[in-house]
Amino acid sequence: MQNTIKKPTLTLAIAGTILMSACNQTAPKSNTSMTDSTTTTAAATLPAAAGFEKTIDGKPTKLYILKNKNGVEAGITNYGGTLVGLLVPDKDGKLTDVVVGFDGIEGFQKAAGSYYGATIGRYGNRIAKGKFTLDGKQYSIFTNNGANTLHGGKKGFDANVWDAKQVDSTTLELTYLSKDMEEGYPGNLNVKITYKLTDDNELKISYEATTDKNTVVNLTNHSYFNLNGAGSGTNLEHLVQIDADGYTPVDTTLIPTGKIEPVKGTPFDFTTPTTIGARIEEDNAQIKAGGGYDHNYVLNKHDISKPIATVIGDKSGIKMEVFTEEPGLQFYTGNFMQGKNTILGGKKDDHRTAFAMETQHYPDSPNQPNFPSTVLKPGAVYKTQTIYKFSVK
Ligand code: BGC
Repeated sequence: MQNTIKKPTLTLAIAGTILMSACNQTAPKSNTSMTDSTTTTAAATLPAAAGFEKTIDGKPTKLYILKNKNGVEAGITNYGGTLVGLLVPDKDGKLTDVVVGFDGIEGFQKAAGSYYGATIGRYGNRIAKGKFTLDGKQYSIFTNNGANTLHGGKKGFDANVWDAKQVDSTTLELTYLSKDMEEGYPGNLNVKITYKLTDDNELKISYEATTDKNTVVNLTNHSYFNLNGAGSGTNLEHLVQIDADGYTPVDTTLIPTGKIEPVKGTPFDFTTPTTIGARIEEDNAQIKAGGGYDHNYVLNKHDISKPIATVIGDKSGIKMEVFTEEPGLQFYTGNFMQGKNTILGGKKDDHRTAFAMETQHYPDSPNQPNFPSTVLKPGAVYKTQTIYKFSVK
């Protein structure tokens, strides 16, 4: 089973250069003709479409490409609603793939327990012991993470084939019907996700869902970012800022204790820009529980116009700002990455070579009366948006 905490082997990536990180991007076959005429190293490309053309559960899967006027490209497959790759310009204008992915669906399936790039549902992150009570009735869902349920259960939204409609060159709509009692959750849940790439180099993910019975919903995207380029080394020198004064500490199985603790004076304080690596090895019980950062941040009051997190790749100069309507952010520093999978470009998914910023409601909310509710009722619409915006510093 994945999620066994591995003792970190720190390899500080001080030796990397822009040139080396670009070389890591050159292996995949391109389905575009994008080349970089200003440097001798090739720009990153998305994987070839062929690796995504399959039939799974009797449904066709494909790679869909969104492209904006700046040449930014997002590759998304309807298998799991997965973001396969995201090409954005670095400080020299060279396209860099900032999302860890594979050259085909099989790669994603093999690494399923890591949820690379996937849409997560019906409930993002953990539900303690796979149980919750709603309207006086106890529901049992599949436990796939020790005693707990993680990211939906045995076959979450990440492992299902969605119906896809490419609306235009920058917009993809994905829909999925999660049937009543699928994985143990009540209610037929109709879900729609829209991926939109804007000319401001934003990837906007809009989520919508309706149900015919009271249920719980918590949707997110599980992309693993490396802003120096996927496969370019550890994430430890990435500079991170998170607009959160509090976080939800966890027990040893990563279930929130129910408390909201201040980040001040702890390694969890990212209210001022700090590198991921600066405190990740500190002798702190919570850092130890997560094997690094694997915690939900309680975001300060915000609206979608203000970034709740900003990350800068030290080598590439690529800046990512995260905007969301959600109250929480799971900051996960790839502590369970073990180098078992070969990613696009030929490198391994080594320990802490990427990070995730999963916008969400707090983990285990169905069992935590003090946390914002994740209950969705018939007649109401679950509607939320998250934006990942890219620029250079
Ligand atoms: C969880 C981690 C887990 C990872 C991949 C994150 O959202 O918090 O504990 O290992 O997803 O499954």
